[in-house]
Amino acid sequence: MNRFNILFSSLIFSFALFLSNALNVTHDSRSIIIDGNHRIILSGSIHYLRSTAQMWPDLIRKAKEGGLDAVETYVFWNAHEPTRRQYDFSGNLDLIRFLKTIQDQGLYAILRIGPYTCAEWNYGGFPVWLHNMPGVSLRTKNDVFMNEMKNFTTLIVDMVKKEKLFASQGGNIILAQVENEYGNVMDPYGDDGKSYINWCAQMANSLDIGVPWIMCQQAAAPKPMLETCNGWYCDEYKPKDPNTPKMWTENWTGWFKSWGGADPLRTAEDLSYSVARFFQKGGTLQNYYMVTIYQTKEKSSCFLSNTNTKTDANVDFGGISYFVPAWSISILPDCREEAYNTAKVSAQTSLMVKKLNKAEDEPSSLKWTWRPELIESASVQGRGDVSINKIVDQKDMANDASDYLWYMTSIDVAKDDPMLNGTVTLRVNDTGHVLNGQNMVTTM
Ligand SMILES: *[C@@H]1O[C@H](CO)[C@@H](O)[C@H](O)[C@H]1NC(C)=O
Ligand SMILES: *[C@@H]1O[C@H](CO)[C@@H](O)[C@H](O)[C@H]1NC(C)=O
Ligand SMILES: *[C@@H]1O[C@H](CO)[C@@H](O)[C@H](O)[C@H]1NC(C)=O
Ligand SMILES: *[C@@H]1O[C@H](CO)[C@@H](O)[C@H](O)[C@H]1NC(C)=O
Ligand SMILES: *[C@@H]1O[C@H](CO)[C@@H](O)[C@H](O)[C@H]1NC(C)=O
Repeated sequence: MNRFNILFSSLIFSFALFLSNALNVTHDSRSIIIDGNHRIILSGSIHYLRSTAQMWPDLIRKAKEGGLDAVETYVFWNAHEPTRRQYDFSGNLDLIRFLKTIQDQGLYAILRIGPYTCAEWNYGGFPVWLHNMPGVSLRTKNDVFMNEMKNFTTLIVDMVKKEKLFASQGGNIILAQVENEYGNVMDPYGDDGKSYINWCAQMANSLDIGVPWIMCQQAAAPKPMLETCNGWYCDEYKPKDPNTPKMWTENWTGWFKSWGGADPLRTAEDLSYSVARFFQKGGTLQNYYMVTIYQTKEKSSCFLSNTNTKTDANVDFGGISYFVPAWSISILPDCREEAYNTAKVSAQTSLMVKKLNKAEDEPSSLKWTWRPELIESASVQGRGDVSINKIVDQKDMANDASDYLWYMTSIDVAKDDPMLNGTVTLRVNDTGHVLNGQNMVTTM
C-alpha cells in the first residue's frame, strides 16, 4: 500500500465513524424525527449556573430516573461575558461540562441560546455593558445590538461545535433556540421588530448547526425556525405553519412569588392533566419549566379525558366503562387497561413554610448587621453620590452591580411649623419602581 492509500482508507474510516454517531434530527407536521423515528420527547429545564458543577450529575440522573429524555437550558450572556470580550466559563458557568454531563447520562439536550433569555434572571441575561453602549437599542433592528448578539451567539455555537455536541456531529443537542418569547413584545417595535426577527432567523440559520432551530412564543416564526408554545396549558395551541410539529418548551410547573404576593402553587394533578392533554392533542415535545420529577407513561395509545372541572364522569369506551374524575385524563396504553390517571398521580408536595426560630421569637433580639457591597466602580458609574430631584434608572445608577440605591432627602422645618404636630406624607411620583408600599408615611 502506498501512502495515498493509507490516507484514503483512514479518511473513509473516520467518515464512517462520524456517520455512525451523527443523529439526523428533522421534523414533519406531526413530530420531531430522530434517525427516521417519530419521537415523543419529555424534557425538563435545569439551568447550570443555578447549581454547582458538583450537583449536576445527581440532578441530571434524577431527571433521567423521573422519565425524562432531554434536559433544556438557557445560556446566560451576562454571566459569561460580564465585561465586553472577557469571558467566564469556569465553575458553575462551565457550559460545555454541563452539556457533556447530560450526554454522559444518555440524555438529549436542548440549548436555548437566546441570548436574551428572560429566565427570572437579572436583566434577562443582557450584560450591563451592552445597555451602556452608545447608540444601542435592545432586541430590535439596531446594528450595535445585532453585532453584539451575533458575536456572542457565534461564540457559543463555535464552542459547542468544537466539542462536537450537536446531534448532527454525534453529540446530544437536538434543538437550539434563538431569541426568546419575542412574539410577546414584537408589536410595539413595528417594522423594525419584524426585520429584527427575520435577521435572527437568518443569523441563526447561517451558523449551520445541523439540527432545527426553535423560537418560542413566536407565531409564524420566519422559516426555517420552528415556533413553540410556553404556558400553563398548550393543548389548544396550534403552530401557524402546518408543517411545524406541536412543541411545548416551557410547561410552568410553578411560578415565582411576587413581592408581598400569595405563594404560587400548582398541583401535580393539574400539571399532569396538562401534559396528558397536550400529548392527547398531538404534542411531540414538552418541557417542564423547571424540572421536578414525576413518572409519566408516554407511549400510550388511548386517552380518555374529562375536561369538566367539577363533575366526575363514566366513559364508555370499547364496551368498557371507565371512571374518569373531573379535570383528568386516563391513559390506556393498550386501549383497554387504564395504566394512569392524571388525578391520581399521588405526587409528593412540599411547601416551604417560614418559621421563626427561637432566637427570632423576640423581635427585640433581632440585630441588624451591615455588609458592604463592592461598589467603587458601581455607584453612579464610579462617580460617587449625585444630587437629583427624581427617581432614576437603577441600571444607569448602580451599573447592575447592586440591587440597592439609597435615596436621601432632607426638609428644613421651622420650630413653629404646624406640620410638626401632624403627619407628614412623602409621595413618590413614579410607576416604574417599587418602594415599600406606594406612599411612605413618616410621623414626626
Ligand atoms: C434525515 O431524515 C429525513 C426525514 O426523516 C430524510 O428525509 C433525510 O434524507 C435524512 N437525512 C440523512 C442525511 O439521512
Ligand atoms: C467578536 O468581536 C471581536 C471584536 O470585538 C472579534 O475579534 C471576534 O472575532 C468576534 N467574534 C465573532 C465570532 O464574530
Ligand atoms: C407539566 O409538568 C408537571 C410536572 O411539573 C407534570 O406533572 C405535567 O404532566 C406536565 N404537563 C405537561 C403538559 O407537560
Ligand atoms: C403643637 O401642639 C401643642 C399642644 O397641642 C401646642 O402647644 C403647640 O403650639 C403646637 N405646635 C405647633 C408648631 O403647632
Ligand atoms: C407625576 O409624574 C407625571 C409624569 O412625570 C406628571 O405628569 C405628573 O404631573 C406628576 N404628578 C405630580 C403630582 O407631580
